[in-house]
Amino acid sequence: MEFVGQHILSVDQFDRADIERIFEIADRMRPYAERRRITRVLEGAILGNMFFEPSTRTRISFGCAFNLLGGEVRETTEIKASSLSKGESLYDTARVLSGYSDVIVMRHPAPGSVAEFAAASRVPVVNGGDGPNEHPSQALLDLYTIRRELAARERTVDGMTIALIGDLRYGRAVHSLVKLIGLFQGVTFRLVSPSELALPSEYLQALARAGHRAEATDRLEDGLRGADILYVTRTQEERFPTQDEADRYRGLFRINQDIYTSYCAPSTVIMHPLPRDSRSEARELDDDLNSNPNLAIFRQTDNGVLVRMALFALLLDVADKVDDQAREVPWFTGGREAG
Ligand code: ASP
Ligand code: CP
Repeated sequence: MEFVGQHILSVDQFDRADIERIFEIADRMRPYAERRRITRVLEGAILGNMFFEPSTRTRISFGCAFNLLGGEVRETTEIKASSLSKGESLYDTARVLSGYSDVIVMRHPAPGSVAEFAAASRVPVVNGGDGPNEHPSQALLDLYTIRRELAARERTVDGMTIALIGDLRYGRAVHSLVKLIGLFQGVTFRLVSPSELALPSEYLQALARAGHRAEATDRLEDGLRGADILYVTRTQEERFPTQDEADRYRGLFRINQDIYTSYCAPSTVIMHPLPRDSRSEARELDDDLNSNPNLAIFRQTDNGVLVRMALFALLLDVADKVDDQAREVPWFTGGREAG
């Protein structure tokens, strides 16, 4: 695709060549993301970081990514702190905010809301999550991480087995990731969920059309055996019609070190888009896995900065200018461990 000036609304926009281009630029961002080098290539540019739903890592890492390229960030963090709560439309909001920004990242609880906003925006808009629909930058950072983790284990995305575990119905990170991995070849998807939270049929049909295997089960052990990657997810409680319904699924699948040792190969990579639900009655990914070297969750979050820097560089057409006038940072950079 032509990235310059485009909106990023769905992973449907990407083909394999686009992914390679994003990842190649993400690799080049590492010294900046690790704050060993400084670039000012976006000096003077403004990111409108519009989050109308809770977020920790997407909002902060998009903001950091823009700052690391030299730009400034303005943001809002919830509907009630914006004039959307006074009845202002997405159209008017987009017209206003795109006059203040060079690029906008937006998260909103309604599916399709970011596309509606983008249609009225005068600048590129990146979907930071639209309800249960999609979370494209999450899928990119997940795939980037999967590739690196598998490469370190002499495996490839083509031909891998990935277990997607938990709330596959409302999980937008899962929806975008399934479609993105669908661009590869011969993948086996283990879909572990209660039947009520199964992956919606349109995603299954797309996987079948692309020649992948998809095996649905509600038994955790069956999903874990032989998987290269575990992609564990939180029950998206905020998407359920009632809290009572959400409560039914809390704590249904829990992975801890004992379960991992019993059912997984010793090199199985453990991923989660985060946040993991650490309440004692939930704990889909137990804290006792924190010292397991195959736990890649904080490598995922670190990689998010690289991938988001790459997206900004592409959309604003500075990918080949990032290194111009870059310099080493003057401060102490030792002692930092990678995620
Ligand atoms: N943070 C991810 C999202 O916003 C996953 C989650 O919240 O469980 O989709
Ligand atoms: N993974 C993710 O989107 O995290 P946040 O909801 O904290 O942004």
